Amino acid sequence: MGKLRKLAVVTSGGDAPGMNAAIRALARLAAWNGLEVVGFERGWEGVIENKFMRLDSRAVSGILHLGGTILRTSRCEKFKTREGLEKAAETLAVNDIGGLIVIGGDGSIRGANELSKYTDASIMALPASIDNDVYGTDETIGFDTAVNTALTEINKIRDTAVSHERTFIIEVMGRRRGFLALEVGLTAGAEIILVPEVKFDQEKLYEILRKNAAKGKRSSIIVAAEGIGETRKLAEDIQKNVDTEVRLSVLGYVQRGGSPTARSRMLATLFAEKAIDLLLDGVEGKVIVLQRGEITSITLEEACSKEKPLNVNLLELAEKLAI
Ligand code: F6P
Repeated sequence: MGKLRKLAVVTSGGDAPGMNAAIRALARLAAWNGLEVVGFERGWEGVIENKFMRLDSRAVSGILHLGGTILRTSRCEKFKTREGLEKAAETLAVNDIGGLIVIGGDGSIRGANELSKYTDASIMALPASIDNDVYGTDETIGFDTAVNTALTEINKIRDTAVSHERTFIIEVMGRRRGFLALEVGLTAGAEIILVPEVKFDQEKLYEILRKNAAKGKRSSIIVAAEGIGETRKLAEDIQKNVDTEVRLSVLGYVQRGGSPTARSRMLATLFAEKAIDLLLDGVEGKVIVLQRGEITSITLEEACSKEKPLNVNLLELAEKLAI
């Protein structure tokens, strides 16, 4: 590949707070290094349809504190086809784009890995998702913000739960995985945390709630990952089997929005710095990751071929803390 002159950025899949911080850092660091940058609009759709905006330093002013993504995003079915990938590769070639930085979750990283087989452009991925389910990184951009958003809501729910002496099931996002539920549950002091990775016995759950009542706990918070499914049915079952009034609160899309926390902004900024450094060094096909406090990278292929493990020890810790 010739000398790197032009970069492109795309945000794809579910948005995550901190995506704008990443876009800003990428645009400014690229400009600092004399590189031109464009941003494809509406995720992979924009790459396929060759729709982009220029991202010079002024274009990314005033976005650091904003949730969402100024580039907008989508879940693009066409990108999963050979035709879509070929069109996307063609867009990169006609615009002379030497490096593409993809900001998104595990689906977007899979897409980036596929596209890398069709293009000569070097592809870098910055993991951004409230689900924190990308293999190889301890944290994704936006996760910390979503945890804090959920906590703020649960603090309020705790007030009413205590006043009414009720049991609350609070459903949080996370798609098929329980990373968000686990961290939210632990830091909210939930009595019970339910994640898809660990089968739970409903009878045992009733028993815990009964024991809690006997110990003098008059209200309980159950944090459930959306991936366990059927939380409404669970609420009804508990109501029937335990002497407690049960309410369900689905937190939903509030978890995806809002101003990114300092931690999400920091991660976005440091991931962006690493991506630009690697591109300038001529490195190709990497996912930027955080591992034990260090910003490093793994290959796109590795990120796509492995499943991130959930730290089930934290579930045990939460159980001990809920006595
Ligand atoms: O991946 C982020 C996420 O918010 C998941 O937690 C959730 O299951 C999903 O996206 C919702 O997807 P959509 O935005 O397509 O409704």
